[in-house]
Amino acid sequence: MMKTAIVTGGTRGIGYGIAAALGREGWRLVLCGRRPEEDVRDALRALQTEVVYVQANIGSAEGRARLVARAVERFGAINVLVNNAGIGPRVRVDMLEASEENFEEVLRVNVQGPYFLTQAVARQMVAQKQQRKEEASCIVNITSISATVASVNRGEYCVAKAGLSMASRLWAVRLAEYGIAVYEVRPGIIATDMTAGVKEKYDKLIANGLLLEPRWGTPEDIGKIVAALARGDMPYATGQVIVADGGLTITRL
Ligand code: NAI
Repeated sequence: MMKTAIVTGGTRGIGYGIAAALGREGWRLVLCGRRPEEDVRDALRALQTEVVYVQANIGSAEGRARLVARAVERFGAINVLVNNAGIGPRVRVDMLEASEENFEEVLRVNVQGPYFLTQAVARQMVAQKQQRKEEASCIVNITSISATVASVNRGEYCVAKAGLSMASRLWAVRLAEYGIAVYEVRPGIIATDMTAGVKEKYDKLIANGLLLEPRWGTPEDIGKIVAALARGDMPYATGQVIVADGGLTITRL
């Protein structure tokens, strides 16, 4: 039977790398993002699998409900959820100056969104398990090394990613009894639109020895990792964190 995966923010950047990797392995995809469908049509076509696109804001309860309803209506089941969509602060501002508006927005999209989308999808997965016990399902949260690395010019992003990291553990505990695995993938510096504005800064840091694997990470790197998790090739490891950062967070002396 063909299986279905939801990838939030799956039409560009890391999410697209994940969608492409899953598509190559025959997953049916439900992707969501902020842009209208006509803007993403070419990207969807290139995925070479059955794809449904839902224009929805995961920071809104209405958007999340519509996304889940559409996935079930079209494919009848959800086997994998990848909480990938996320935003940086609109502007990087020192913590002594930063605004509550930015904080609220980043927390709503990066934590509250995936937390409650997981709740909605988990309810669906639990209902499926009651009918088809042996069918595998899992949830993957894309956090960031910012869950543990302090950047004082984007405190709200770090707080949000640390929060999503705890949410991963919490959901792993809560869903264990249903055999639903929950993983956290924690990328380092990945070349996407999100990091385009700080390219020179990171180029220099990488040239100066920041990483053990001295290159930018790519959406394809993260796609391969998520595809392995979705395939079930990381067994007996629910709740674990896969750090994909080229060695950035290994403390050295
Ligand atoms: P991106 O900005 O290139 O793409 C983000 C995607 O999420 C877009 O498709 C966008 O439409 C969607 N999105 C944003 N807000 C949304 C919302 N409210 N509702 C629905 N969709 C929304 O970003 P990138 O770099 O691909 O990042 C993806 C994830 O990976 C994010 O959670 C980010 O925090 C995380 N990450 C990125 C790193 C990097 O170096 N680029 C490093 C570590 C983590």
